[in-house]
Amino acid sequence: MQTGKPVWILGISAFYHDSAACLLRDGEIFAAAQEERFTRKKGDAGFPTHAVEYCLREAGIGPDDLSHVGFYDKPLLKFERILETYLGTAPRGFTSFLKAGPLWMKEKLFQDRSIKESLGWDGPVLYAEHHESHAASAFFPSPFREAAILTVDGVGEWATATMGVGRDNDIEILDELHWPDSLGLLYSAFTYYTGFKVNSGEYKIMGLAPYGEPKYVDLIYRELLDLREDGSFTLNQKYFNYLTGLTMTGPAFDELFGGPPRKPESRLTQKEMDLARSVQDVTEEIIMRMATTLFERSGGMKNLCLAGGVALNCVANGRLLREGPFEDLWIQPAAGDAGGALGVAQLIWHRKLNGAREPEPGRDAMKGAYLGPSFTPEQIETFLDAEGASYRRLERDDLIRTVASLLAEEKVVGWFDGRMEFGPRALGARSILGDPRSPRMQAQLNIKIKFREGFRPFAPSVLHDRVSDWFEIDRASPYMLLVAPVREDRRIPMSDEQRRLWGIDKLNVPRSDIPAVTHVDYSARIQTVHPETNPNYHDLIREFERQTGCGVVVNTSFNVRGEPIVCTPEDAWRCFMRTDMDYLVLGPFLLEKDAQKEWKEATDWRLEFQLD
Ligand SMILES: [Fe+2]
Repeated sequence: MQTGKPVWILGISAFYHDSAACLLRDGEIFAAAQEERFTRKKGDAGFPTHAVEYCLREAGIGPDDLSHVGFYDKPLLKFERILETYLGTAPRGFTSFLKAGPLWMKEKLFQDRSIKESLGWDGPVLYAEHHESHAASAFFPSPFREAAILTVDGVGEWATATMGVGRDNDIEILDELHWPDSLGLLYSAFTYYTGFKVNSGEYKIMGLAPYGEPKYVDLIYRELLDLREDGSFTLNQKYFNYLTGLTMTGPAFDELFGGPPRKPESRLTQKEMDLARSVQDVTEEIIMRMATTLFERSGGMKNLCLAGGVALNCVANGRLLREGPFEDLWIQPAAGDAGGALGVAQLIWHRKLNGAREPEPGRDAMKGAYLGPSFTPEQIETFLDAEGASYRRLERDDLIRTVASLLAEEKVVGWFDGRMEFGPRALGARSILGDPRSPRMQAQLNIKIKFREGFRPFAPSVLHDRVSDWFEIDRASPYMLLVAPVREDRRIPMSDEQRRLWGIDKLNVPRSDIPAVTHVDYSARIQTVHPETNPNYHDLIREFERQTGCGVVVNTSFNVRGEPIVCTPEDAWRCFMRTDMDYLVLGPFLLEKDAQKEWKEATDWRLEFQLD
């Protein structure tokens, strides 16, 4: 039994990408949020002042009440890597050192002082290694008593991937792959070359891959990558530019793949789709080999935990679950660097303070990832009145019935309810919803609501007890991190004529009885919805099923292209008014677009967000 004051541990990740803060109370995950949601700068890498403030506010404490503060990586080790890379590649490396060096000197080496000053914290700041933080975030909140742990990302200090094991309340790293051999950076090189933004466009490559053919796989293995049986590899640095310049690929890469990188925003061609498919196939192969090696080295452990940016590759995760050696997987929903804040805090609790860990089988400790700010009906109403919005307040059951029937009429509904999600996916707290049965929904959402490329797929939220009725998967996927095929009996086969359609034109051919969430290869990125973690969202989908027979809705993140997911009622309102969304739910309030008075923004927001 706990006595006396609670032990509050604050974890921070910052200064690289996607800064975040996480607060533990006696080892329990109490609050966590990414800085971008507050500053409205996507992937904000600055010190997470707002996220920290939020965590402390949620707990009703000040910095003095904190027992420990942890930082998710070791800046000196990272600096050492940058310095050695520079020395090793001089004078070619000079450009990137000149740009990156002074920034590192200024911001990162003096991090200890800046963390203390920003926080108003007098105690020591504890540092974990980058991949240790990832590994901790993968294992500690998982439902497993023991598990193998795989972390894969771009780079931390030196490591780019690690294999480890977790038992009870500790983790051990068994092996590491080191910079500059990095699967994350290989994927990012293709992201860059196909004209998307590194660190956020990787998702688009994964989404584009099913439209392409694996034409370049052999070339990648022959020229770019020496892949070994155990999943480790060496990248041929002749083709990459991240050591020496500020772009990912260089002239040799261009020559190998027949031309310069695609200009951002220019038309996508079959070549980009083939490149995407090829690098996706190679990535899956590497992950499968790493997992197989880890399975053996762990002595045949049954479960695998994953984190690191590459763990967001839900297509690879789905394949790992279907074909890999492990019986079960658990993936940290904030698998990127934001999750490091959670990892380091948990390392302090379990390793330094020897805090016990009591995993519950089948139930993780992430609380559905609903770890961010929520707003009371009073707060929402005050905002709506100040804005002069037209709204109705409904009783819970009435609201659920009404919204379900609006969805069934093909209306697009913004759904803002409860605590904001931690991690990159919207999971029914800050989501835009639609009817998956509608053949028009995918194009409508992409073009009229999200203002983005038409090929971008949408994901289904499905009642947890209905998942096998719709998809070829028999387990929970609460964080939308597993891809699985739509059941065969729900698919609509393509005619020969349709099969001959070029790449993206295939998009307009309905592939199943839930076409809006069925990818061109019949796959879907699944979120299972559970009453324990999100009862309102669960009951909404249950009601939609009662009205339509379909226990699935389209769930896309509540934002427009290039913008972070909304955090506050004000962000949600602005996004609602900017787009062709039909209805907005803010807690117990329902707003109809057609009932709102004329609304005009002072500045052209599209300019702000266009460069995604
Ligand atoms: Fe990372």
